[in-house]
Amino acid sequence: MGKVYYVSKNVGLGLLVLAASALATIIALSIAYDKERAKNRDKPEDGVTDNSSMPTPPTTSFTPKEPWDYYRLPDSLVPVSYNVTLWPRLQPSADNMYIFTGSSVMLFRCVKETDLIIIHSNKLNLTTFNGHLAKLSALGEATAPAIQKSWLVGKTEYLVLQLRSRLSLGVSYVLYIEFLGNLADDLQGFYRSEYIEDGVKKVVATSQMQATYARKTFPCFDEPAMKAIFNVKMIHGRDTVALSNGRAIDTEDTVIDGVNVRVTTFEATKKMSTYLLAFIVSDFSYIQSTQNDLLVRIWARRKAIDDKQGDYALNVTGPILQFYEQYYNATYPLSKSDQIALPDFDAGAMENWGLVTYRETALLFDPIMSSNGNKERVTTIIAHELAHMWFGNLVTMQWWNDLWLNEGFASYVEYLGADYAEPTWNIKDQIVLYDVHKVFAVDALASSHPLSRREEEVNEPAQISEMFNTISYSKGAAVLRMLSEFLTEPVFAKGLSSYLNTFAFGNTVYTDLWNHLQQAVDSTPDMHIPHTVHDIMNRWTLQMGFPVVTIDTRTGSVTQKHFLLDPDSVVDRPSQFNYIWFVPIKWMKTGVEQQQYWLLQKTDTHGSMRVSGGDWVLANTNMSGYFRVNYDPDNWDRLLSLLNTNHQAVSLINRAQIIDDAFNLARAKIISTTLALRTTKYLSKERDYIPWESALRNLNYYILMFDRTEVYGALQTYLKKQIQPLFEHFQMITANWTKVPTGHTDQYNQINAIGIACSMGVEGCRVLIQSWYRQWMRNPHHNPIHPNLKNTVYCSAIAFGGVEEWDFAWKMFKNTTLASEASRLRAAMACTKAPWLLNRYLEYTLDPTKIRKQDATSTIQYVARNVVGMPLAWNFVRARWDYLFQQYGRGSFSFSNLVNGITNRFSTEFELQELKKFKQDHLNVGFGSATLALEQAMEKTTANIKWVTENKAHVLKWFTEEST
Ligand SMILES: *[C@@H]1O[C@H](CO)[C@@H](O)[C@H](O)[C@H]1NC(C)=O
Ligand SMILES: *[C@@H]1O[C@H](CO)[C@@H](O)[C@H](O)[C@H]1NC(C)=O
Ligand SMILES: *[C@@H]1O[C@H](CO)[C@@H](O)[C@H](O)[C@H]1NC(C)=O
Ligand SMILES: *[C@@H]1O[C@H](CO)[C@@H](O)[C@H](O)[C@H]1NC(C)=O
Ligand SMILES: [Zn+2]
Repeated sequence: MGKVYYVSKNVGLGLLVLAASALATIIALSIAYDKERAKNRDKPEDGVTDNSSMPTPPTTSFTPKEPWDYYRLPDSLVPVSYNVTLWPRLQPSADNMYIFTGSSVMLFRCVKETDLIIIHSNKLNLTTFNGHLAKLSALGEATAPAIQKSWLVGKTEYLVLQLRSRLSLGVSYVLYIEFLGNLADDLQGFYRSEYIEDGVKKVVATSQMQATYARKTFPCFDEPAMKAIFNVKMIHGRDTVALSNGRAIDTEDTVIDGVNVRVTTFEATKKMSTYLLAFIVSDFSYIQSTQNDLLVRIWARRKAIDDKQGDYALNVTGPILQFYEQYYNATYPLSKSDQIALPDFDAGAMENWGLVTYRETALLFDPIMSSNGNKERVTTIIAHELAHMWFGNLVTMQWWNDLWLNEGFASYVEYLGADYAEPTWNIKDQIVLYDVHKVFAVDALASSHPLSRREEEVNEPAQISEMFNTISYSKGAAVLRMLSEFLTEPVFAKGLSSYLNTFAFGNTVYTDLWNHLQQAVDSTPDMHIPHTVHDIMNRWTLQMGFPVVTIDTRTGSVTQKHFLLDPDSVVDRPSQFNYIWFVPIKWMKTGVEQQQYWLLQKTDTHGSMRVSGGDWVLANTNMSGYFRVNYDPDNWDRLLSLLNTNHQAVSLINRAQIIDDAFNLARAKIISTTLALRTTKYLSKERDYIPWESALRNLNYYILMFDRTEVYGALQTYLKKQIQPLFEHFQMITANWTKVPTGHTDQYNQINAIGIACSMGVEGCRVLIQSWYRQWMRNPHHNPIHPNLKNTVYCSAIAFGGVEEWDFAWKMFKNTTLASEASRLRAAMACTKAPWLLNRYLEYTLDPTKIRKQDATSTIQYVARNVVGMPLAWNFVRARWDYLFQQYGRGSFSFSNLVNGITNRFSTEFELQELKKFKQDHLNVGFGSATLALEQAMEKTTANIKWVTENKAHVLKWFTEEST
């Protein structure tokens, strides 16, 4: 899937503003949201459960005895093909139920004698034949054993058939099952999505199978290695169109059970995993293009297609596919590529093979209404999903424990695909902000975990769901990027291509990729790495965390140490490598690139890193390695003075890195807080986005921790001084805010400039913003605010305003047909300072007619980001925990985001006690996929308390001195 739909990539900034003042709050928030783009790909974020079923209790005390007690299928049977027919009813039945019916003919082979057939089936009502839930026959001469008994196992989601005798080795059998399911609006399996078009309610039947929901659509061997061929038929109304993974090869109008229907038959799929299936019935329309016989279509609501919102996606899909064909050296494996935007979709997007599903905001782009951030999100998400068509779909991991490889890989190469489609954006640089720095924050905690898990550690659906996390996506991306960097891209691509061609239509474990990369290394003359790919990568995938490399330029000594944000935290997870990594270090000396150096043990000496006089050392150039760097104080001073005199001598990425490393080293008490703060002094000369963004995210922590203390005033004065030149720079290059900056990232930095300037009280900012919003209120049909700036302006106008501004936004939210406009209004409405408006808004999240279910938890998070809203959201979540948990908790990724979002500012003993009490009070209900997030929240709060105690006085002194 795409990454989880996070509230925002740059939460930091958002918070920054929040903390500042009412004004500030507004701005930052909007910024954060606008740029929320690349990162939230395809992870199911919701995980709504059937209300009737209780969450599965953890299996701590349960010992499996029978074969059907195990969550993993036995290895006695393998599927060959399924003939699946599905008939969703888009009108409710007399008792107001939406259902689907269907049948499945499964051909399977017996590879180990057994008298049991165990197959996944969940929440389906199965038809009985002679008292049994299925019919069994044999293929050819053989005869099938009779069924003795059949039953369903709720806990492990199985249909079990006990046979009177054994199935014979090597013989193929056919299992026939008929079923009826609930076409619920639960975003899982085959489900129902509703939307209003031209005042009419419309219903779409659509699907989300990853990770374990195919079994809710038809009985199947629902594990990724159980690949098979699927022959799909769909029965649907004649005014609708049916889509699935393959091309439709036949449609026939007929009458079934007295109903006029159309039967659409699809070509047989390739051999594929169940989690990549997709079935959709809608009255959507599409646009298409063909390239080299490949049919490319973009599907969406008719109105969205008519408004040309699919055009941009169609424009970039062709080039992106072309790029991957070259990069992987493998042609696109299917005969068509459909991409569809759904009004109700949990994940950011899902890479179903040949029929990729997206949230509307992840696929649709309105040339007039959307921002450049929206555009980048569309590009990168498409690039992410299409990367999976080969890596993940053609070659699939054996089991979910290797999910990181699938998602990490797509999260890395999406930057390459997007760069090919939009070469002027310099998008590859952004991986540093949106993956590397982001995951550093999580992976520096003692509660982190290794990328790779053993197969037997991941069994239940909730455990599988937990694999869809930042570590899998972003650390996966970061270490694969590092690997590609030290192997060089041609060698990396060569190994990759041989891996994909070798295992096409099959399954792998991660070591298979290492082996093929090793072959590429071995067959490349002059290629030398100090250990095998396997041994080098094990250090990064089997042990959690990452090192800080310390270079002492006085002696040339180089050392590494496991980097922990909280130096007092206890690492109780042992590592077979004792937290020593094989670290590839690219570096430069006084502006000159040096030969890559490998640090292979804890301590080493590298003579050429000893420098003196005016020379300086800068390591981890372009942040190509997954580690932080520290230096001796003299080298730090030389780097800081270089920034102050000639910051362009340091690359954009390394400017951002110096800031981020310094702030985090200070957090870990490795360097002083004031040294970190000194890295921000040159910012009055900085005009580029990536370093500014890095600084603002780090300063955000200071704001969160100090916004209720006297430190805040001095901080505000300092930052005002630093941001003022940037604000004036943009005022100038936009001809007094009348033009859009030409550079892609300049457009982002303009938002930072306005947002921070307003929140820090730079002259003229507030008036500018309010005048735009008032113009719009006077004439709702003509919005004068540029899409790039809408988040900022909406949020601040609502924060400054009252119920009138809020209700105007609500009206616009309800009226807009553009998903991205709805999203930004939804975020902006959380910016109000009026508690009653915030509480009313929180209540709206429980009413799906007001706030869609898919948006409920992120809306609560928006409120929590607001300085006034945080305690309200915390109370709301505590009071409604049982209900929220039942609705969203099990297997839901966004649920852990919710816990993170609310507890971000916790920094007092009192808040820590509240958190502990919360845990105690709800132990009976549980925390599901938020369990880990809750533990992390307590660890972070403890660290915050300590940090504030130790740093407050120094920080106050520094800001006070620097702001005069
Ligand atoms: C499944 O459908 C295909 C294509 O219509 C057909 O050739 C095949 O015989 C069917 N398989 C079974 C087991 O009925
Ligand atoms: C499935 O069967 C159960 C028990 O007979 C019934 O309560 C439920 O309504 C049925 N589900 C559907 C979708 O018809
Ligand atoms: C799509 O490409 C066409 C042809 O190059 C171009 O005219 C159009 O503006 C593009 N649309 C978008 C939304 O980028
Ligand atoms: C690309 O694939 C072809 C055919 O599989 C192979 O002969 C060729 O060497 C590959 N090229 C690269 C660069 O791997
Ligand atoms: Zn993905």
